[in-house]
Amino acid sequence: MLVLKQDLKILMKKKLQAAGLQEKHAEGVADVLLHADLRGIHSHGAMRVEYYAERIAKGGINVNPTFTFEKTGPSTAVFDGDNGAGHVAAKEAMDEAIKMAKESGVATVGVRRISHSGSLSYFVQQAARKNMIAISVCQSDPMVVPFGGAEAYYGTNPIAFAAPGEDGEHITFDMATTVQAWGKILHARSKNASIPEGWAVDENGETTTDPFNVHALLPIAGPKGYGLMMMVDILSGVLLGLPFGNKTSSMYHDLSESRNLGQLHIVINPEFFTDLRAFKRNITQTMNDLNHIKPAKGYDQVSYPGQRSAWKEKKHEENGIEIVDDIYAYLASDVIHNNAYDDKDPFAK
Ligand code: NAI
Repeated sequence: MLVLKQDLKILMKKKLQAAGLQEKHAEGVADVLLHADLRGIHSHGAMRVEYYAERIAKGGINVNPTFTFEKTGPSTAVFDGDNGAGHVAAKEAMDEAIKMAKESGVATVGVRRISHSGSLSYFVQQAARKNMIAISVCQSDPMVVPFGGAEAYYGTNPIAFAAPGEDGEHITFDMATTVQAWGKILHARSKNASIPEGWAVDENGETTTDPFNVHALLPIAGPKGYGLMMMVDILSGVLLGLPFGNKTSSMYHDLSESRNLGQLHIVINPEFFTDLRAFKRNITQTMNDLNHIKPAKGYDQVSYPGQRSAWKEKKHEENGIEIVDDIYAYLASDVIHNNAYDDKDPFAK
């Protein structure tokens, strides 16, 4: 059903508060989830509330965290999230990174001990709105077969990038290093839809189109995607002294436990490299150039990364967001699950 963005945000916030999250943090999480749904990334929007609420209710997300921020060098810092809501910690850490990059030209902030932080484009766009370039990477549960392997080792370890253009527009690239994010499998399950070949494998390592039959996900571009997810795990896990590789916590094992995940924000201030106005003009030029590339047969237009999401955002802002009926019914209900996710094998049929 179509839901207006302000109504969706209130519903999500209320449910997160009912599960035990303090108001400010419920607001922060709902903001990031709404960002995803607005941009058509439904895998990381309202659909996740049911799971978060169960984890919050069970104590697996610290509802009273003490965030600490320690500058460790002229352009480096560590933000400790005390296993509170990852969305809120990652947002505050990005605010700090932006402040640092204003002064020092570049800032690298490690975000330690957080729960899932959602769609990473939210954080890099924070920086782009302040005229900064940003990269953000984070760990995710081990559910991907490394190239040539028959068991999962890395997570879907996403990489996000944003750079500011003119008139408040920015170019945003944000992807899981798997062919598809795990949330897309969940989204297919929620709609009882099949998935395309090449997203995931079954228990025999063969590609499957049944989202309920998924045993592990596949990295993008074989060994190249596998290499990228390795890089993300080193930058956001090993570097921050956190569990890494297949020791990274699972979303679905013991929801009363903290996740101890890591994320890394890198912010670059263009003013330390070039003229800011020229930089923004050239980003806009990049967007225009890409839009004017001759389209291949079967395509109307080449779009720049993030453009389709920006179109969806505009449409959803005006007309409302299409939310799966069951998800809406859950959000509007008084239900907080006690055992819908805990210790459930995500790959179970
Ligand atoms: P996706 O496959 O929908 O898009 C990936 C990128 O390709 C985007 O930048 C998009 O703008 C661009 N793109 C897509 N179609 C395009 C086209 N036709 N022309 C030009 N560019 C195009 O994204 P994916 O990989 O499914 O990730 C979804 C979300 O999941 C992301 O927000 C990511 O941060 C999040 N995620 C979060 C995780 C976590 O643990 N926090 C783990 C994995 C993913």
